[in-house]
Amino acid sequence: MRTDKVDFTGVQSTMLVTLYLRALDSRDPEPILGDRFAAEAVERIDYDWARLDKPSIKRSRTVAALRPKQFDDWTADFLRHNPDATVLQLACGLDTRAFRLTLPSGVHWFDVDLPEVIELRRRLYAETGTYHMLAASVTEQVWLDEIPADKPVLIIAEGLLMYLPEHEVRQLLHRLTERFPYGELIFDGFLPWVPKLTQLMKKLLGERYEYPPYRTGIRDGSDIERWNPRLRCRERVAIMDRIGETNTGRDRILRLMRRFDCLRNMLCLFRFEL
Ligand SMILES: C[S@@+](CC[C@H](N)C(=O)[O-])C[C@H]1O[C@@H](n2cnc3c(N)ncnc32)[C@H](O)[C@@H]1O
Repeated sequence: MRTDKVDFTGVQSTMLVTLYLRALDSRDPEPILGDRFAAEAVERIDYDWARLDKPSIKRSRTVAALRPKQFDDWTADFLRHNPDATVLQLACGLDTRAFRLTLPSGVHWFDVDLPEVIELRRRLYAETGTYHMLAASVTEQVWLDEIPADKPVLIIAEGLLMYLPEHEVRQLLHRLTERFPYGELIFDGFLPWVPKLTQLMKKLLGERYEYPPYRTGIRDGSDIERWNPRLRCRERVAIMDRIGETNTGRDRILRLMRRFDCLRNMLCLFRFEL
């Protein structure tokens, strides 16, 4: 069954882009992520997908598959060691990690996003006794009290922190480490020059720059440790290095960009312990 017409604006619209790019990857003969749920969701959502069928957007398809793949691998590794864990996925959009992975039966999974996004998500997927969806802004406190804190927790924030101002990132990290005694936090971040560039583009192009500019950059794991001493960086992956390991025949420019450190490290994925 098709959903009602979707016409998100603002930060909510960004998850349609990542969904569309995962769907493109899944249709590749040799996909990186192979997320068939993404392709099915694109079929079912009544949205003008032609708006995303542009080189400037499709250029990111390898990155848009490599990033969730790394998060899937870290999630699977955490759950292998903690089969009774709570997983809290912030800014889930229409990501289907909870269905892509085979979860141990003791895992309780919570997907959180803004109300409009969760309303759409509920049209596509159903809750179960162990899979839950919460409609809330992560910058509010009250929803966090609904998440059990008596088990090891894995917190996933994929494609989120760059959209929040730095003081809200710090507050969120503080609230998470106050609530949960132990576990891991995985997230991604751009070097600070990237948010500055997107803000400049917004200023110059106005409405022609369609998506919200990024607001917070992360130099490296020590930024986060300084913001919140409860967090310890365990692993950092530069997504450009993963591009170097793929064999898609695309991404020649990205491969060349890897020669310069400020480009090679522009998007990193982080795995922290709390
Ligand atoms: C780039 S998308 C990423 C979605 C998903 N993680 C993925 O990789 O496909 C950014 C997501 O952040 C969500 N988001 C932004 N600000 C938020 C907030 N304050 N609270 C909850 N979700 C938020 C948006 O609604 C959107 O779904």
